[in-house]
Amino acid sequence: MYKRLDKSKHGWWESAVFYQIYPKSFQDTDGDGIGDLKGIIQHLDYLENLGIDGIWLSPICDSPQADNGYDISDYRGIYPVFGSMEDMEELIAQAKRRGISIIMDLVLNHSSDEHFWFQQALKSRENPYHDYYVWRDGTPDCPPNDMRACFGGSTWTWAESVGQWYFHQFAVKQPDLNWENPKLRRELYDMIRFWVEKGIEGFRLDVIDQIAKEPDLKITGNGPRLHEFLRELSREAFCEKCLVTVGEAWGADVERAKLYSAPDASEMSMVFQFEHICLDQQGEKWDVAPLSLPRLKNVFQRWQNGLHGQGWNSLFLDNHDLPRIVSRWGDDGLYRERSAKMLATMIHGMEGTPYIYQGEELAMTNIRLPLEEYDDIETKNLYSERIARGYSHESVMNSIYARGRDNARTPMQWTDGENAGFTSGKPWLPVNPNHAFINAAQQVNDPNSVYHYYRQLIALRKEQTAIQKGTFTLLCPDDERVFAYTRDTEQEHILVVCNFSGEETAFVVPEAYRSAETLIENMEASEGVLKPYEARMLKR
Ligand code: GLC
Repeated sequence: MYKRLDKSKHGWWESAVFYQIYPKSFQDTDGDGIGDLKGIIQHLDYLENLGIDGIWLSPICDSPQADNGYDISDYRGIYPVFGSMEDMEELIAQAKRRGISIIMDLVLNHSSDEHFWFQQALKSRENPYHDYYVWRDGTPDCPPNDMRACFGGSTWTWAESVGQWYFHQFAVKQPDLNWENPKLRRELYDMIRFWVEKGIEGFRLDVIDQIAKEPDLKITGNGPRLHEFLRELSREAFCEKCLVTVGEAWGADVERAKLYSAPDASEMSMVFQFEHICLDQQGEKWDVAPLSLPRLKNVFQRWQNGLHGQGWNSLFLDNHDLPRIVSRWGDDGLYRERSAKMLATMIHGMEGTPYIYQGEELAMTNIRLPLEEYDDIETKNLYSERIARGYSHESVMNSIYARGRDNARTPMQWTDGENAGFTSGKPWLPVNPNHAFINAAQQVNDPNSVYHYYRQLIALRKEQTAIQKGTFTLLCPDDERVFAYTRDTEQEHILVVCNFSGEETAFVVPEAYRSAETLIENMEASEGVLKPYEARMLKR
């Protein structure tokens, strides 16, 4: 069994590995085709065996599910389809028993329009909850400005009952909360404490860089009062106990990330930023461009060196908003397993806290569905917007196949049986037919599987100080195929070498590592070359 982390010490997350669960797609236990909390409890042994230290649980609070729970209508209640508060308490307790912390997703930028606060706010401008949201006067024919929402359309929606426009950075059903209002902030801090008392050991803060919006100045991310708000949030809600806090920040650069994740704990434990994962696009994420490996290496180098000793980063390639990495930067055909292991080696050798997204440890792949089978609000809105702008059906579908969020949301593939063992009913989103050969049951029993490779990588982070805190040095920055770097402490030296291409590539291991110990490799090494998608981690 793995060494358990002492979670009473600040900074315990610096040698931890987290696993993200998207509850809707993890495991259904009551046959309604939708995953639930009991389903997560059922698989805690699987997760303990993998060796993870915490679960980032995507939203489980009550919600009309316009954005799969990222639209909360009751911050203190459980979405009944997922289960009850007793189930949640049971999950927290059972996980803790296995050394696994539950890290809850906190959506503090917006609520659902069905939340009591918004329903009250709609009643009159004088209602005490009216100022919990962001309003502007005007006339129904002319929104306050031309800002566009993240899921398409205007950021402004007219509310007849009060004769005003309300602001929403995401869907119409996700009105933005007004962080300028101290009463609203206090209400949120109280809610956080409620969950801490239930045993929650950390929080992932959804689009936290967007809370300090200034609609009149057309500012959404990194607003002028952002860090003031974050410091107050940390002081009022996070400070006592060693809670781990992870801020999702699409707009963070290295300098901003140092503020978010300053070692003095004044804001959050770490930042979750996306610079590396946005490199293979031109402008919008839907416009796919080839990945330039030298650019990718440059971005990682900048973040690794920039935050070393001055901040803390998350390490990830997959999540519920991103396509599957093996289909994106690997090869989901012939070299699926090898390329998935290579990508994992690249990211798990770095400094930061790794996040594994459900199914990534099995090298689950993207899916292609007929348009009407997609569920995601972003995907649907994109389709109508682009068709209206004159794009062809084929080109929009290609964007959806490559980038749609439902790629990551198809049900977890547990077995080769019916519905991959996910449900006895009709799954809410189709199961990928490749569960016939990509599934947990098979991989858990195969020591050479992708699952066991992740297990080893997780164990290595616990054992190797150089992986936890070594300095990062990039080798061969201009090489178009090989991603190689070292991690060094005074005593320990680790070399990570990854062939990002499907071609055999010449590579000579540096002299100093000629007789080094192999910590992990995804195939038997040969001298002077790297086979397609080969990866090794060596230690001297
Ligand atoms: C975050 C979530 C995403 C959600 C959005 C709005 O980016 O990860 O799934 O749609 O915020 O809450």
